[in-house]
Amino acid sequence: MLFPVTYRVNAAGHMEVGGCDLVQLARTHGTPLYVYDEATVRQRASEYVAAMGSAGQVLYSAKAFASPRFLRIVEEEGLGLDVVSAGELNLALKSGSKGNHIHFLGNNKSREDLEAAYRAGATIVIDGAYEFELLRDIVPEGKRTPVMLRISPGVKPDTHAHISTGQLDSKFGFSIESGAAFKAIGEALRHPRLEVVGLHSHIGSQIFALGAYEQAMGIMLDLVVRLRDELRYEPRKLGAGGGLGIAYTRDDDPPTPRQFVETIRHALEVGCLQRQLKVPELVVEPGRSIAGPAGMAVYTVGSIKDIPGVRRYVAVDGGMGDNIRPKLYGARYEAFLASGPERSPAGKVTIAGKYCESTDILITDIEMPELKAGDVIAIPAAGAYCLAMASNYNGMPRPEVLMLSGGRATVMRRRETLDDLVAAEVF
Ligand SMILES: Cc1ncc(COP(=O)(O)O)c(C=O)c1O
Repeated sequence: MLFPVTYRVNAAGHMEVGGCDLVQLARTHGTPLYVYDEATVRQRASEYVAAMGSAGQVLYSAKAFASPRFLRIVEEEGLGLDVVSAGELNLALKSGSKGNHIHFLGNNKSREDLEAAYRAGATIVIDGAYEFELLRDIVPEGKRTPVMLRISPGVKPDTHAHISTGQLDSKFGFSIESGAAFKAIGEALRHPRLEVVGLHSHIGSQIFALGAYEQAMGIMLDLVVRLRDELRYEPRKLGAGGGLGIAYTRDDDPPTPRQFVETIRHALEVGCLQRQLKVPELVVEPGRSIAGPAGMAVYTVGSIKDIPGVRRYVAVDGGMGDNIRPKLYGARYEAFLASGPERSPAGKVTIAGKYCESTDILITDIEMPELKAGDVIAIPAAGAYCLAMASNYNGMPRPEVLMLSGGRATVMRRRETLDDLVAAEVF
């Protein structure tokens, strides 16, 4: 699934999403522009919830993309939220999320983060021993706050090393292999201010081979056996994290949300049966696989530079400021001419951004139809970790963001202005 579910080529031969013509949207809203298809967000979110059934809980990982309207849609579909900072928590609460539907993660939570999480009634996912000290101070005497512990199961998934998190050499979580996990759980159980509701894991992101989750689940359950036998503790909840990959190119064929949940549920249920454990509630926290396929980036072509026999650079009006992923981990994308996505290719081009870095390249060597200044280009699968990591590098305002549904485009986030860029400066 490279395109949003409502994608089609309309009668004008233009790309259309959510009943809206992308060329028209570029004209009326300007570019760079990010558009989200509401039907795709709902379809992906509800597929997770349906596959989970009564076996547990699905949280949307707000780090992938968060905006009030988007979060409300995800919550309407029955998901809770996973946040990683007081900033994400504040946005979620202001968008109407309930604190007790939120899990608060992060490897170096500040005192302010933890105070905010406690005040909101969120479940805190403890990532390091330092948090035990902070929470001793923050949670008043006589009270306990619900926590999970992030465990590193020592699994290496089939993804880029920069988004692989479950191995021993990682800044995240308590490692099982090193003995830190068992020790930390013991400490948490003795802690007077904590109610240890469960254990959490997250092995990485953009994962296609679900076997890594089965492996991680087995390792987590072996740990639970030891906890039961030696500490008389069995977790009520077991978190398997997020990480399901999505298609960024036509060649990518990731598993579906249903396959993801069913694989993990099966590993959990069978694994518990084999070890004579009570089956805990499963928690998964997908981000990319909900926001990613729903979003598209829309740019306008400007300068074109031909280096005969070498390369043809087609520069667009965005780039690494709104999508750092190609630069950060060599991410690949497809691009389409919005006014003629099915037009025959005229040769290879390299789609460059407008930022002052020679590595500001969105796509290297892609076959495109003839392009000229003013043409609108759309990049699918741009809904996750693009805007979420956007910056104002080079004094560039961040793009406008629309939610599309039934032929209507609703502004979710307005385009930043030059005044926004200097709002925090002291003159
Ligand atoms: C702890 C944790 N949970 C969930 C996610 C969401 O992962 P994804 O967007 O790949 O589903 C991440 C992202 O890296 C994460 O670090």
